[in-house]
Amino acid sequence: MSLRVAIIGSGPAGVYTAEALVKQAPGTVEVDVLERLPTPYGLVRYGVAPDHTSIKSIAGYLRRVLELPGVRFLGGVEFGRDVTVEDLRACYDAVIYCTGAMVDRRMGIPGEDLPGSVAATDFVNWYCGHPDMPADRFVLDSPEVAVIGVGNVAVDVVRVLAKTAEELRATDVPEEVLTRLAESQVKAIHMIGRRGPEHAKFTLKELRELGELVNADVCVRPDEAPISGDPAALSRQIRGNVEVIQAWAARTPAGRPRRLDVRFWMRPVEILGDGRVEALRLERTRLEDGRVVGTGEFETIPVGMVLRSVGYRSVPLPGVPFSEATMTVPNEAGRVREREYVAGWLKRGPTGVIGTNKSDAAETVRTLLADLDGLDPVRRADLDAVLAERGISPVTYRQWLSIEAAEADLARTLGRGERVKLPGLAAMLGALNRPE
Ligand SMILES: Cc1cc2nc3c(=O)[nH]c(=O)nc-3n(C[C@H](O)[C@H](O)[C@H](O)COP(=O)(O)OP(=O)(O)OC[C@H]3O[C@@H](n4cnc5c(N)ncnc54)[C@H](O)[C@@H]3O)c2cc1C
Ligand SMILES: NC(=O)c1ccc[n+]([C@@H]2O[C@H](COP(=O)([O-])OP(=O)(O)OC[C@H]3O[C@@H](n4cnc5c(N)ncnc54)[C@H](OP(=O)(O)O)[C@@H]3O)[C@@H](O)[C@H]2O)c1
Repeated sequence: MSLRVAIIGSGPAGVYTAEALVKQAPGTVEVDVLERLPTPYGLVRYGVAPDHTSIKSIAGYLRRVLELPGVRFLGGVEFGRDVTVEDLRACYDAVIYCTGAMVDRRMGIPGEDLPGSVAATDFVNWYCGHPDMPADRFVLDSPEVAVIGVGNVAVDVVRVLAKTAEELRATDVPEEVLTRLAESQVKAIHMIGRRGPEHAKFTLKELRELGELVNADVCVRPDEAPISGDPAALSRQIRGNVEVIQAWAARTPAGRPRRLDVRFWMRPVEILGDGRVEALRLERTRLEDGRVVGTGEFETIPVGMVLRSVGYRSVPLPGVPFSEATMTVPNEAGRVREREYVAGWLKRGPTGVIGTNKSDAAETVRTLLADLDGLDPVRRADLDAVLAERGISPVTYRQWLSIEAAEADLARTLGRGERVKLPGLAAMLGALNRPE
């Protein structure tokens, strides 16, 4: 009798886990991938920047996994709302949680809740057309915007703000988002790092791309570019970042329509405004025993929007152990407790690129197969029957392909690229049963 496994979440971690199960236990495993959205691929679809089409094409690889014999996609089924731990333990021999890190981290400074102070998670969801985020959520009516953080998500956000709508026209951003980007009043973007160029988290390829923007001048203050210590002691990646930043510090702006100021050694201390964001107060920093401390030297920039891109965090799943300290599910090589496992960002925190989830998933599956080797199947119930009893009809893989086809139709109608995201959940559900 084959092993039946439920995977919760169809992002890279969930799909790589399905692949690892099929590869490591060929012909003896059936996998159901449960996903709260009607669409698979998690952040590959709703995180990776729309203009990074080559990275988005990883979806083509993930697609082939969902098409493997023995693997089923069940969209529109939310763990904690539609099914519980107890349901799944009754229906499967093992459950693997792969729900990622869906919410933003906060900065903990005064003014953070003012209108105009926004989590990058929300902004990313907006331009990626996530069904949780209405397309009319943002109006880019401020000439100056601050983006806090110098990681790769901040780089994505900055690039989307800096590019023209025309440059994004061939991407899959929803049409209303494209219209709002076309109406953007943004002239200056301030990207704020609380430490030095050698501490920034962005990767070299992503950083270099900012320097190639045709619509924006990238500026770095000469006094913020130097690093302390010997550059030769830095890793190749970080040395590369530092060289790019120092070259920008030596550039003369070419008078492009937008300007990107990349700042270092500045931390946000307060968001100011009467009823909405009007300015951001920054304090110059330095390191003391490896910790960032303020120097008492302040600067205020007149921004109408503050986008915090200071990292993501996971949320606890009902009935599943969770560590508030690490914001992950405590595990040993992927094992949470008997017959329950975890993979991806929920397992190790919101770091690493898409490919990191592949080896991570393989580790979890090795643990699971070793644990379950020789154990009798425990399942007594059938998830399809449980869902039917609750009036829930999961979105099938074939129905998801209908959504994809409707996106391609929309792109053709609008004269845009390969696909355009449908506006909202209702439009997606409306496309489920379109004739082939
Ligand atoms: C904005 C952004 C851009 C990125 N760009 C890149 C990039 O260009 N290149 C790169 O290599 N890496 C990139 N990354 C990193 C990469 O996306 C992650 O490493 C990867 O997506 C993590 O995979 P995951 O499966 O753990 O989480 P996710 O991709 O978040 O997948 C989690 C899935 O679980 C589902 N889910 C959540 N809760 C439930 C529930 N209760 N029930 C059922 N389903 C649920 C979600 O809907 C989602 O589909 C980016 C990350 C972000 C945040
Ligand atoms: N193209 C790509 O490959 C791509 C694209 C997007 C995302 N990703 C990956 O996805 C993961 C998440 O990316 P991310 O950008 O969200 O996170 P990240 O890489 O951890 O960067 C977070 C940034 O926020 C700063 N920060 C944190 N708290 C702060 C605070 N209170 N005030 C000011 N700054 C603060 C951090 O500075 P400190 O270092 O000082 O803490 C850091 O610069 C990363 O592994 C990233 O590489 C990859």
